[in-house]
Amino acid sequence: MASAPRPLVAGNWKMNGLKASRAELGKIIEGAKANPVACDLMICPPATLLESFATVALGSPVAIGAQDCHAEPVGAFTGDISAEMLRDAGASAVIVGHSERRATHRESDADVKAKASAAARAGLMAILCIGETREEREAGATLARIERQLDGSLPDTLDAQKLVIAYEPVWAIGTGLTPTVKDVAEVHAFIRKRLLKGNERTGGAVRILYGGSVKPANARELMGVADVNGALVGGASLKAEDFLGIAAAYR
Ligand code: 13P
Repeated sequence: MASAPRPLVAGNWKMNGLKASRAELGKIIEGAKANPVACDLMICPPATLLESFATVALGSPVAIGAQDCHAEPVGAFTGDISAEMLRDAGASAVIVGHSERRATHRESDADVKAKASAAARAGLMAILCIGETREEREAGATLARIERQLDGSLPDTLDAQKLVIAYEPVWAIGTGLTPTVKDVAEVHAFIRKRLLKGNERTGGAVRILYGGSVKPANARELMGVADVNGALVGGASLKAEDFLGIAAAYR
């Protein structure tokens, strides 16, 4: 079996950050240079900060990603931003299908698949988010939901350089709650199995991140679970100290 892929710790800043936040990015970069970690690092700021963050992070150990894209490359889509535009602004990745967008923008699995494909078309890595709700977990329907989301939103061809999966249980986001290590292991093993189906060569190289209330205090335990290849971090990624404290799980 191939060796585990290099982990990725990515910060999703959501709708947080103004120009002054460049100072926090600077602290993350300085910290990553001073104490190197054995994982890739990425910050996904709001679109307004992409270009300036990409400039600050150029040549540093921190990559810059975006939080969403439109599926089309150009056109009459007021307010939307294409994957090509994100790349042009300096992003190397884009989050697609975050549960907050699935909920508040009614994004379907088909929409998410189109966005993941748009990312690949533009040369961006897609961080494709999936995860069950509390009701689904309590009903024992977690794996069925994960399977449906993967079937409906995975791009037709898997490219480990262009695709990362993020398992984010909706009920664990911003709540301080996390699944047990056993539950994380079960879902990640299930995702890995599905990725390997028909893709023996690339399925093992696609990184599967865990996201949902990851903090410095629980990162080492969560990152130690089999088939957890990093983290997608919300709130704790806004503070350099916390974000670097999470990445330190890979030191
Ligand atoms: P929190 O880390 O704040 O729970 O958010 C997780 C998340 O939604 C990352 O995309």
